[in-house]
Amino acid sequence: MRDGEAHVLTAEADRTVMETIRDAGIDELQALCGGCCSCATCHVFIQEDYMRLLPSMNEDENDLLDGSEHRQEGSRLSCQIRITDSLNRIVVQIAPED
Ligand code: FES
Repeated sequence: MRDGEAHVLTAEADRTVMETIRDAGIDELQALCGGCCSCATCHVFIQEDYMRLLPSMNEDENDLLDGSEHRQEGSRLSCQIRITDSLNRIVVQIAPED
């Protein structure tokens, strides 16, 4: 959550981080485009240890994140991160709203 409150969610393999958060009823993550990589309202910060485990960012994701004033080292769009076994216990924080 944005305020630092922690939620432990169970993620199904092959779902995205965005879908996992949204399906848990956490409405701070707007995900307005539904995962089409066109809105950036699913911006999250990924804990450093997990960054190297993620697929690389495509140009669209990178461009959208460039439009955020809150972009930082661990920024990713959560709709572009699919849950795999290697992401077990991944920690994400919802980025502030732009
Ligand atoms: S939900 Fe719109 S970019 Fe991720």
